[in-house]
Order: sequence, then C-alpha cells, then structure tokens
Amino acid sequence: MNKTVNLEMQQSALSDQDLAEALTYPVTAFLSREYAEAEKEKLWPKIWQMAGRVEEIPETGDFITYEIGDDSIIVVRTGPDTLKAYHNVCPHRGRRLVSTPEGANHACGKKSRFVCGFHGWTFGLDGKNTYVHDKQDWKGCLNEENTALAPVLVDIWGGWIFINMDLDAVPLAEYLEPAASILNPFQFDKMRYKWRQWVIFDCNWKTALEAFMEPYHVAGTHTQLLTHGDYYAYSAPYGLHGVSGFDQRDPDLMMKQASTITRAGKGADPRISTYNLQNEIYTTVNNASTTETLVNAAKRLVDELPEGTPADEVIKHWLASAKADDAARGVEWPTITPEQMSQAGLAWHIFPNMAVLQGITFALCYRSRPYGDNPDKCIFESYAIERFPAGQEPKTEWVYAEATAEKWGMVLAQDFGNMAEVQKGMKSRGFRGTLPNPHQEQKVTNFHRQLGKYMGTGAPVKLKP
Ligand code: FES
Ligand SMILES: [Fe+2]
Repeated sequence: MNKTVNLEMQQSALSDQDLAEALTYPVTAFLSREYAEAEKEKLWPKIWQMAGRVEEIPETGDFITYEIGDDSIIVVRTGPDTLKAYHNVCPHRGRRLVSTPEGANHACGKKSRFVCGFHGWTFGLDGKNTYVHDKQDWKGCLNEENTALAPVLVDIWGGWIFINMDLDAVPLAEYLEPAASILNPFQFDKMRYKWRQWVIFDCNWKTALEAFMEPYHVAGTHTQLLTHGDYYAYSAPYGLHGVSGFDQRDPDLMMKQASTITRAGKGADPRISTYNLQNEIYTTVNNASTTETLVNAAKRLVDELPEGTPADEVIKHWLASAKADDAARGVEWPTITPEQMSQAGLAWHIFPNMAVLQGITFALCYRSRPYGDNPDKCIFESYAIERFPAGQEPKTEWVYAEATAEKWGMVLAQDFGNMAEVQKGMKSRGFRGTLPNPHQEQKVTNFHRQLGKYMGTGAPVKLKP
C-alpha cells in the first residue's frame, strides 16, 4: 500500500494562520470504535451542547430529555425564568427516571414531580428528593445530597438550551465566544420552530455534520444551484467555532448582497435572478434558508422596478419591501448593520455538533449525535426557525423523516446522498487521508484541530508542497 500522506496527527499546535495551509488528518475520528468510546469520556461530558429550544418547555413542569452517548439529561422548567437540568437517573438503584419512547429522539412532557418507576422514590422539579419508601431502613444515612438528582449545568443563548455535564465548565457565554457576539444581532431568541425532522444515517456524527460545513460541495453535489448563484466561499476559525461565507474580500459586493443568503443571484436581470435564487432555495431546501415573505417580495420586483435597475438597488428595494410586508403582518426585523451582516457570514459551526445557517428573520440548523456505540451511525436532526407574528407560530414536534427529497427537499436529499458513501469511502485502504480545501474548508480543519485538543490526539498535519 502506497501511503504518500502521513496519517499521524502531530502534537504541535496549529495557529489560525496554519489553517490556510494544506493540511491532512486521519480518518480515525470517523471510523474507530475506540475513538467513539473515548468521546464519551473526553468530549461529551466536557462541553456545552444544545439540548433543545426554550419554546419546547414554555410552562413550569415542562421537560425534555437530551440523550448523548450513555448519558441522558432532563431539562425542566422550574419557573417563569428558571430552567434546571439533571442526569436522568434515579439515585436509588439507577433506573432511568424518564424513558424515551420507542422510535423517538427524546422524551418530553409535563410533570409536577418525577416519580421513579422502580421503587417510587420521588423528586421535586428542583431535583430534591421528596419521598423515599421506608426511609427509616437507612438508619439516618440518607440526606438531601445523596438522594437528590445529580445536577447538570444549564444555560440559554439565542433561544437555545445548552447543557454541560462538567460542573466546573467555563460559563456558556464564554464558551460560545466570539460566535455569540457576532451572531447576537440576529436575535435567534425571537425565532420559533418552523419544522423539525430527524433521521438516522449510516455514518459517523462528524461525517454528517461536516457535509454542512462548507459550500465547496455545491459545485459537485447541488449542480442545479449553479445556474442561480456563485458559491465560492471563504471559511474562518473563531476559537472553537468556525464560519463560512461568500466572498468577504469585496466589501462592495458584501453590501450589495446585504446578507450572504439574501443576494441577487446570477443572471443579466437582477430583478429576475433575485427571485429565481430565492424561489429555488425556498422550494428545494424544504421551505427554509429564506422566507415566504422574501420570496413573494422578490417575485414583485419585475413589476415594481424598471428594467436595468442595478443589482444593489434591486436588493435594497427588495429587502425594504419584504421588511414592510413583514411589519404589516406583525413580524419585526432586527437591526443588523451591513458590517455585522458581513462579519456573520453565511453559516456557523458551533463546536462540536451544531450548525446554524442564519438570515435576517430565519435560520436553518443542524445537530448530529452518535447513535449508540456505533461509529458508523448517527442521529441527524435538522430544523428551521423563523420569526412569526405573535400567536401564529406553528405547532411543531420532532418528526422522523426518511432521507428522501419528498420529505426534506431536493438539496438536503442531495447532501444526505453523500453521508454513507463518505463513511464507506474513508474505510478504503486506498484512501490516504483527508485533503480539505485550505480556503473553503477551514471550518472543517478547525473542527479537527479543536477536537484533537479535547481528545488528546493532536492537530492536523501540514502537507509538504
Ligand atoms: S431505582 Fe428508582 S426508586 Fe429504586
Ligand atoms: Fe449541501
């Protein structure tokens, strides 16, 4: 076997600048059972991870579970402004307190207390034990501490609930920086679920997530989109996290694009190409990555503007009329400066398993998680959030949806078509190790750089010219 690329991760640290160089890293992180086992010790219990959205538990007693590896966490609302999180295990003999129904990706419901199904120990929403059957048998050795549910850190950002099993972890706000500050203008907390779907893939959780970390694949995977726009993208690390976006080197272009998703598209008449791009995205990305308001306002551009209107004026008019349309139905747009829009780019990776593709009033998001102990399988979840008029938010729940174009739209189905094939391909003895694009795939290499720190496996290695 002729391996021309050194597959050993090197222990020396890589700088942000190094990520712009040609790098490689081995496939161990995707394929190895030992690596997946090690993630259970070194990664998942140490990091903040998104467990759900605040809107899922609006009232006191509402709870959800979040399952990761062998751990299950209960997040419960204990009051109008307070959430608490616990390990989902009874301190008596270890029964799971709340069971995830067969075929579901989590448990949810409403409780005034948690009663263990085995011997009836009972816990208040605050996690304290309120009942032990025949407590006197322990001769005074049971106390508040050893009978309470084991606590987990919980905090909120952008309407997302994050948990951390490491009670000594840095605060969430610090963990998310600088991503949180850059994204805060979008006010994700004002958005609500539009739809949420999940599926099980025959690939590692990283293989699935990385399929959404770079627009470099558009030219090879979503060829139909090429008639509507250009997708050459920069990518950049931001600490643990990373971003990609359309070309940042031309500030004039960035202004014209207003946001990297809300842009003119490709074609001689920007009135038409703007609509074509928006309509194409809306219909093939499962009614996400733009909004009905934006599509409808784009459709009117040919009637509202004379032929020959320059692209930047078309965009300006389009966004102003979409903003007015939304205002008329009670949807307020956040104030985002062109500089903030430009810095926020197109799509974020929030370490380790969350992705957000944001727009002014919407976002398309992904989360992937290991499936059992199998490094070749993962739970993949995707959801759209959007601003809705108060009281008109759709009622949604997690829906298991087979990975078809019918259920997910053509674009996501095309992405899904790569999952198992990448996982299989990486096992080939003819595969020399990854060759990520030094300009467009820095999000991916940064992910492996940061992952290596948690896992103690070192950083990607520089290729020799
Ligand atoms: S295991 Fe929960 S009461 Fe016994
Ligand atoms: Fe894609």
